[in-house]
Amino acid sequence: MQKLLIVGGNRLEGTVRASGSKNATLPVLAACILNAGVSTIHEAPRLRDISVMKFLLHYLGAKVTNEGSTIIVDSSNIEPLEISEGIMRRMRASNLVLGAMLGRFGRVKISYPGGCQIGSRPMDLHLKGLQAMGAVIREKFGYIMAEAKKLTGADIHLDLPSVGATENLMMAAVLAEGVTTIRNAAKEPEIVDLQNYLNAIGGRVKGAGTDNIKIEGVAHSQMKPAVHSVIPDRIEAGTHIVATAITGGEVTVTNVIPEHIEPLLAKMREAGVGITVGDDFVRVRGNGRVKSIDIKTMPYPGFPTDMQPQMMALLSLAEGTSVITETVFENRFKHVGELRRMGADIKVEGQSAIIKGVDKLSGACIEASDLRAGASLVLASLAAENGTVIENINHIDRGYERLEQKYNFLGARIVRVHN
Ligand code: UD1
Repeated sequence: MQKLLIVGGNRLEGTVRASGSKNATLPVLAACILNAGVSTIHEAPRLRDISVMKFLLHYLGAKVTNEGSTIIVDSSNIEPLEISEGIMRRMRASNLVLGAMLGRFGRVKISYPGGCQIGSRPMDLHLKGLQAMGAVIREKFGYIMAEAKKLTGADIHLDLPSVGATENLMMAAVLAEGVTTIRNAAKEPEIVDLQNYLNAIGGRVKGAGTDNIKIEGVAHSQMKPAVHSVIPDRIEAGTHIVATAITGGEVTVTNVIPEHIEPLLAKMREAGVGITVGDDFVRVRGNGRVKSIDIKTMPYPGFPTDMQPQMMALLSLAEGTSVITETVFENRFKHVGELRRMGADIKVEGQSAIIKGVDKLSGACIEASDLRAGASLVLASLAAENGTVIENINHIDRGYERLEQKYNFLGARIVRVHN
């Protein structure tokens, strides 16, 4: 088990580059199953979750090679093997192979996925959509089995704009017969990125980024090799922005699509943080203590649930009382207990956290319970007095590439220790 030892109190200063998006790379890698050929994916981050997806493709029979941040997948020899609990448990996003496997082979058997413990995270919307396209689904002994001689285009209305369900259904629909419309689709930038990849391999997808996505099914013979660059990671960029603000620093975050982080930037400005936006960078200037603000997480373009824990760390040092309401996941306040151990004054009432800003946080021995909770603890530690020890940092490694190196380069004092 590895830990991070963080000595807080240093301002972050300089320039940091956000890596490619984890949540865009994962569905694109799953979609590589569809073309039964070569896909070259640039700007893939080097993260544990990405390694799990590479391993899964390799297990299914793909040839996967990695050169720096480029992943090359040759999916010609993939077979519809059963995907066991041992693989699926390592990452919830493994469920993204469901649509692509069903689309290409007409059958798939996967164990229910694992992942961050931030709520029940069911898959009913994925399965209902596939059923509407003609798949027969059976669920037994913790496995999902889906079969369809031929998937057919369907009109699907999602009860809520699930990111994973939208992605799975887009992938399944690419090789289906006829036109599929996904209504109330998720509008996240990662969905648009997936559309771009699917069109690059010969799919006919339009409308990503809006509520309605239309996929015209094509024959497998129309699939082709493709080269694709994934978009920058908006959550990583957002985390660096909050890290700068919480340390009262001055940092330029590069490799950013500012429009993708506008919901965060609006809140940072409201809190009094200096923000300057360029074409592909954001300059952040911490102006001392931030003002209290209220936040409600929502699907994109609302405030991202994946930035909620980091904002809570920042607001725990704000002037005044803030309220954060979490509407996307029902169990996403696990960082509260750890922040409290550092001296934060936070009370949870149902789906809301009431955060009374305190003058200072102090170091403690704390534990990351999930990926973004882990990030929030790193940020709190950067601002805290004394040293902090963060355990269970494997969660942080799932989603941040060389986080401590990036922050040390900006002036932080973080050491990774193995025990
Ligand atoms: C993705 C992101 C995750 C982010 C989340 C919300 C990836 C790999 N992960 O997760 O980082 O926090 O979007 O922005 O991209 N739901 C159902 N039934 C379903 C599917 C989802 O009820 O069949 C519910 C979930 O329980 C949750 C909500 O919908 O409450 C949103 O989940 P969803 O958008 O599907 O998140 P993920 O795709 O798992």
